Amino acid sequence: MLISIEGIDGAGKSTAIKTLTENIRGAKVIREPGGTDLSELMRSVLKGEDLPEVEIPVEVSEPSFLLIKELMGETRNPSLRKFLDSIISAAPLGVVEGELSPKDELYLFNIARAELIEQVLRPLIESGATVILDRYIDSTIAYQGYGRGLDPSVVANICLRASGGLLPDKTFYLKIKPETRLKRMSNRGGEDRIEASGNDFFERIVQGFNVLAVNEDRIITVDAEKNKAEVSYQILQNLEKC
Ligand code: TYD
Repeated sequence: MLISIEGIDGAGKSTAIKTLTENIRGAKVIREPGGTDLSELMRSVLKGEDLPEVEIPVEVSEPSFLLIKELMGETRNPSLRKFLDSIISAAPLGVVEGELSPKDELYLFNIARAELIEQVLRPLIESGATVILDRYIDSTIAYQGYGRGLDPSVVANICLRASGGLLPDKTFYLKIKPETRLKRMSNRGGEDRIEASGNDFFERIVQGFNVLAVNEDRIITVDAEKNKAEVSYQILQNLEKC
């Protein structure tokens, strides 16, 4: 069984994941973006953080390789192009400077995803494990599609190529208002590159998640404005029906 957890930053995904892991024996948790050397590199670039220490050459699977080549042809950011080239040619990695366009973001999330699916997710599913995904494709549709304003068919197409059509059986969408994010995030540390994109961005993302929740049967909406105990209760009630 494949379960994903979705929602904007501050919605309480960690609490939801704790509830699920405590109640599903042997469940494995995977956080996007990340989870392989290549995916962790993409994560740092996307979040605007220092690169992690990883082995070079990193392993690159076929779907990620194809997306990397395509982004190298598409991007207008020369340092990003050089960075991607250094990954596939196993050369020392440079620093990614300057702006990332919405399309750069879309590709980078999906390069990370394709690698994670090939190396970690599919083997886990084949072994019969229940996997809990801390974000998945709905985040890309909501953040890069609705949030950044990319054409939904472009977003869907790249996600499909990265995932090979692998969708969760159930998705828990932790629904909060954008204002609640602001209140909850003020108690946390500094914002990363994506979190610093402003409240309008998060309003569009919430709209996106709400549309997805209406259109997709697999998505269960959880009222995450409630306290932790009530959120856990809603999750467990729905889990029993799965
Ligand atoms: P992370 O620290 O994992 O966020 P969170 O604390 O919410 O789990 O950082 C991931 C960020 O990337 C988060 O702001 C959401 C964003 N994101 C996208 O914009 N698109 C995507 O496809 C995914 C998976 C994440």
